[in-house]
Amino acid sequence: MTTTVPRATGGSAASPPPQHPGGSALLGHARALQRDTIVALEQISDGAADGVMGFRIGPQPAVAVSTPATVREVLIDRADDYGRGRRQTRALTPLMGRGLLVSEGELHTRQRRIVLPHLSPRQVPRHADTIVAEAERYIAGWTEPTEVDLVAEMNSLTMNIVTQLLFSADSRDNRELARAITEAFEWEMHAITSVVAFPLWVPTARNRRARRNIDLIRRWIADFIHRRRAEQAGESPPEVTDLLGDLMGTRYEDGTGMPDDLLLDEALTAWGASQETSADAQAWTLYLLATHPEIRQRVRDEVDSVLGERTVTFDDLRQLPFCMQVFKEAMRLYPPASMIPRQAVRDTTVGGYRVKAGTMVFINAYSLHRRPEVYTDPERFDPDRFARTREKALPKGAYLPFGTGGNVCPGSHLANMEGHLLTALLAQRLTVELLPGQRIRPELLVNLRPSPGVRARVSPRSRAGG
Ligand code: HEM
Repeated sequence: MTTTVPRATGGSAASPPPQHPGGSALLGHARALQRDTIVALEQISDGAADGVMGFRIGPQPAVAVSTPATVREVLIDRADDYGRGRRQTRALTPLMGRGLLVSEGELHTRQRRIVLPHLSPRQVPRHADTIVAEAERYIAGWTEPTEVDLVAEMNSLTMNIVTQLLFSADSRDNRELARAITEAFEWEMHAITSVVAFPLWVPTARNRRARRNIDLIRRWIADFIHRRRAEQAGESPPEVTDLLGDLMGTRYEDGTGMPDDLLLDEALTAWGASQETSADAQAWTLYLLATHPEIRQRVRDEVDSVLGERTVTFDDLRQLPFCMQVFKEAMRLYPPASMIPRQAVRDTTVGGYRVKAGTMVFINAYSLHRRPEVYTDPERFDPDRFARTREKALPKGAYLPFGTGGNVCPGSHLANMEGHLLTALLAQRLTVELLPGQRIRPELLVNLRPSPGVRARVSPRSRAGG
């Protein structure tokens, strides 16, 4: 069985804008942009020893950066020279309003200050049991060997989990909503990645459907908030432990609470930012374990010796370090947010090269996580890289699945805990075998997902057979 992993290959060449170094560029048409962005970015970064490479997206100049130093330059040292990018903002605003993935400046700072404490390492453990209960409920359906697509399954599972975490609601009772959310995310993805995406006000069939979905979702959440407020104002308000409850109860420095329109925006932002990223991370983890039996055996040995037949809890996690190492290494090889976009708001420089105002600058985490001067044998799936002492020795900015700087993911502690719990639970309970004859490769849409999916047979694990 192989110990290295599938890598994006192929891509097209063209000439870079004059102010940037290097040789390769992207893409004549929209489909190429959607299908081959990571391919081309990887080639671009591979070709640039200093980790800065210019290319074009259609007529627009763009730059990809992929060394710890240049990434830090963009996201930290010269962060004021960049905004999020018009394309991303235009795509996310209809669903997420002025939530944290869209807002900038003072509003962004104010909202981060009020949201972050609820996702801190002290706060997230209280969500562990919800995550585990949802996962147990989900896999209870697999009582005998079943052929599934792991990508679709992990999307459903994380949809169930995030709906519980945010609203204490069951996404299976809200199928229409879950469908609308999935389609709305797909529309966002199209709007971000496609050169020819029309703004939402243009009445194409795709846009009309998106509009209906977005209206349905925002109305559902607005009603939900309204009902929750009424309950809380009642004589004996029920105790709520979900994230929406946290945000409803929180206060700005002046003692006021978050207005309902922002509450709605932040709830949808957390939903959108967490669901598919977590699904892709887990699908890649399962895929890597299924293709590396010796690593899978080490995970099983760990969970069997610590848990036996018992259900995992938060308190077990510190005794399950290898499960965490596996999840981190999966996100090194396949960071769900592989290409973090920025757009220069003024003329600036990166790695000593000029970047003109308006240029898109991408943090290419896929290539950053494969720098050979940082990661020996970078294509190898080797969770021991994240053993405590070795992880501490990594250079700053060399491992960024959650970004860094002023926009660093506020959900990273929750996401890591979820990944840790699910890795342990699924390894304890299931045998996952890939079906033969598949060619799986990383495809970058907004997130990096295994494409065209991962077909596998999942069976309840027999202890006797390992
Ligand atoms: C494996 C799962 C996840 C991954 C890989 C991930 C990755 C990221 C990355 C790379 C960013 C930075 C984007 C940038 O700099 O522009 C980000 C931002 C964000 N993430 Fe996550 N995320 C995950 C899970 C979550 C969860 C569970 C939540 C919340 C419950 C969340 C909420 C957010 C929000 C609100 C932002 C925007 C922050 C800002 O711009 O201030 N994410 N995420």
